[in-house]
Amino acid sequence: MAIAVPGPHQTSFERGSSRQLLIDGQWRDAASGKSFETLDPATGEVLARVAEGAAQDIDLAVQAARRALEDGPWSRMTPSERGRVIHRVGDLVMEHADELAELESLDNGKPKAVALAADVPLAADLFWYMAGWATKLKGGTVTPSVPYLPGAEFHAYTLKEPVGVVGQVIPWNFPLLMAAWKLGPALATGCTVVLKPAEQTPLSALRLGELLLEAGVPGGVVNVVPGFGETAGAALAAHPDVDKIAFTGSTEVGKLIVNAASGNLKRVSLELGGKSPNIIFEDADVEAAIAGAAQGIFFNQGEVCSAGSRLYVHQEHFDQVVEGVSAAAKAIKVGHGLDPETEMGPLVSQEQFDRVTGYLGIGESEGSRAVAGGRAIDGPGYFVEPTVIVDAQPDHRIIREEVFGPVIAAMPFSDVDDLARQANDSHYGLAAGVWTSDVSKAHKLAKRIKAGTVHVNTYHVFSAELPFGGYKQSGWGREMGEEVLSNYLETKSVIVGL
Ligand code: NAI
Ligand code: MG
Repeated sequence: MAIAVPGPHQTSFERGSSRQLLIDGQWRDAASGKSFETLDPATGEVLARVAEGAAQDIDLAVQAARRALEDGPWSRMTPSERGRVIHRVGDLVMEHADELAELESLDNGKPKAVALAADVPLAADLFWYMAGWATKLKGGTVTPSVPYLPGAEFHAYTLKEPVGVVGQVIPWNFPLLMAAWKLGPALATGCTVVLKPAEQTPLSALRLGELLLEAGVPGGVVNVVPGFGETAGAALAAHPDVDKIAFTGSTEVGKLIVNAASGNLKRVSLELGGKSPNIIFEDADVEAAIAGAAQGIFFNQGEVCSAGSRLYVHQEHFDQVVEGVSAAAKAIKVGHGLDPETEMGPLVSQEQFDRVTGYLGIGESEGSRAVAGGRAIDGPGYFVEPTVIVDAQPDHRIIREEVFGPVIAAMPFSDVDDLARQANDSHYGLAAGVWTSDVSKAHKLAKRIKAGTVHVNTYHVFSAELPFGGYKQSGWGREMGEEVLSNYLETKSVIVGL
């Protein structure tokens, strides 16, 4: 496959510059003085040097967040004032849409056009949506029945209070959007935050840090500390003065976070991996389903936790669908994210490239077969061909494990009960797709599938209003929607004897 030349693209970004940590409203170097390079994954070129936060910086950031929670102007703001600040963050994200999309493309590899159409407006919308919740948080009044105090009367009510200082660890696949998903509800509920972006993609979260200050978020309320997972991330998850940790990333690290959080029993929410089934029935609009299956796996280089990586097709349409998705895979223009022609960029890193190409080898050795793609693309850059696999069996690793790349495995089915069993035969339960023109079949299957999101005749619909998260080992709790607020709130019961 020909890839667009990753040549010098016109950008406003100044390559080779340095970035600092945001702690207590100040930009500063890491306590150790260390920094690390962040790379353009399409070329391997250095984009910037970033201060490398570690345990000592995390500790300073947690102290700043604690002060901002207990003393600062933040906790004295009215909900309306807080909501307006959060709304302004959304406005500033949109005012800087082009710049943020470019940063996202350079640091992650994704097409700038995709970042401009999806990542950036979704991030802005999340802040706008959460801004509205700041003024709508409320407890309730309750009438207690107390059998051992006959005749006593009470006035009782519940208060919703911020959980406190929150640690947030986010991944590299949607760097800005994941920051927004995490920060929006934390700010709406009045928490303060230490955010650790992924080491592969720290740039957009650091720029967002500047925009937060510009919007009027007081210093110390959001601290942004890039660094590595094993050092900065682990220190945040274990910190005794952090009240809650929110994590998005691998299931493997999610389990480490749970263990680290047990020291002070901090609250934990997790958004982890997936191996989501996309199911095409005999009565589906086949052309729409083919397009949906391709988009469900190839969007964002397949680096999406809810990617539809297991494609179950009714045997009547199996050949047609495999042919259609393969044609779509072969037609995708792979190249540098800043090239306007590009539809798919490189994978984010050497590590992810090794992982995905490793799975292509595993699939082959297990006896499955690539009918489109199946190989890496010659460098520079971490490019992999969009790949369609057939002949995989339910117990194969390529069917059971998350690849997190542009790789889909198609399997035929004939019986709906058997299909439902196979769809649920996974440690994961993040998302699913169902393609059918039979309304009752769609709703029945939506109930049977153990996943946090079921799409019917569509795929990859993300919206600030819709809760998102996983059953089973895909996570704990939900992001977005009203539901996410409970991750960041404590409930207090107040009882007054009358
Ligand atoms: P990862 O889970 O190691 O990294 C995600 C975040 O966790 C990063 O900010 C990282 O610095 C941090 N982290 C790593 N180790 C940590 C630790 N011990 N304590 C605290 N924080 C830690 O994911 P990685 O290695 O980048 O990718 C591996 C696989 O994970 C991918 O191939 C994919 O299958 C899955 N993944 C899932 C994501 C999702 O959206 N659910 C996002 C990224 C990766
Ligand atoms: Mg890792």
